[in-house]
Amino acid sequence: SLNSLEKYADELVATANAMVRPGRGLLACDESTGTVGSRLESIGLENVEENRRDWRELLFRSPSLGDYVSGAILFEETLYQNAADGTPFVDVLKSQGVIPGIKVDTGLKPLVGGVEGETWCSGLDGLYDKCVLHYAKGARFAKWRTALRIDVAKGCPTDYAIDEAAHGLSRYARICQEAGLVPIVEPEILIDGDHDIATTARIQEVVVSRTYQKLKEVGCLLEGTLLKPSMTVAGVECSDKPTPEDVAKMTVQTLERSVPCSVPGITFLSGGLTEEDSSIFLNAINSIERKGPWAMTFSFSRANQSSALKAWAGKKENVEAAQKALLARAQANSEASEGKYVA
Ligand code: 13P
Repeated sequence: SLNSLEKYADELVATANAMVRPGRGLLACDESTGTVGSRLESIGLENVEENRRDWRELLFRSPSLGDYVSGAILFEETLYQNAADGTPFVDVLKSQGVIPGIKVDTGLKPLVGGVEGETWCSGLDGLYDKCVLHYAKGARFAKWRTALRIDVAKGCPTDYAIDEAAHGLSRYARICQEAGLVPIVEPEILIDGDHDIATTARIQEVVVSRTYQKLKEVGCLLEGTLLKPSMTVAGVECSDKPTPEDVAKMTVQTLERSVPCSVPGITFLSGGLTEEDSSIFLNAINSIERKGPWAMTFSFSRANQSSALKAWAGKKENVEAAQKALLARAQANSEASEGKYVA
């Protein structure tokens, strides 16, 4: 029933705030089996469970990870998986002071009736029962990523795609809260394309506004949610490259126009930006004047992991170097979340 949210209300608010406490952000390592497989294959490893485990174990056992990272977003396999010595990953993370979270969407599907290439995000079937199990296993937050593509000439994203994205996010968020999981609401605006930053800002403002309209309609407790947006950047193929200050200004403007001040935190995705750009942009976002009250931090996957993966190269003797590479990014991003990163 709608009222049962009361059971978890205080806990949801406490969890969301702990996730975005000062100097902390999220380590996203919830790549699907296929996606993590292509990362592993890029360093010559086979996509088998043992290799996926070894890679995630390397990340989770990085010394003092909890100094920079408050939560880790896991794929379902990882939440229920054990480290090589049999310790559940959930316990490895907790001993680092890192809250386990879980990706609960089941991926993007073609949006029939939209423009070719548009997608919708699946995963609502059976979601409540799965969330109950994830909570019992130790997860305290969840993630659902929907993605919208900008192609102005083709009219993308269509209103239909935006509505479906907002609808899915709101249903997901409300269901998660019912089961005690803080929902991370992720409406990604893909960076593919040659559109300029003003176009991204205009479209993102509509997308994020509509998402919150729906979250409110279904009775979400906004104080117990987090937003995971893209930074407001130009399309990768746009010849007009915005400066970090442009990105910061436009990102803050977009979010101030669309995110309620009841939301405790905004945890950005990196979306294909380089590690260094992601840190520099986050730092610029946290260095300018703004009215928005939210914590603004990181929830990067690629921009936390890329150099660590290369340093590891799948070899035991490189584990320490890889962990150092991860911690270097995590520390940079932690500093950037407080506007203290010096590139
Ligand atoms: P990237 O930071 O690599 O875009 O991944 C974000 C994400 O949604 C993973 O949780």
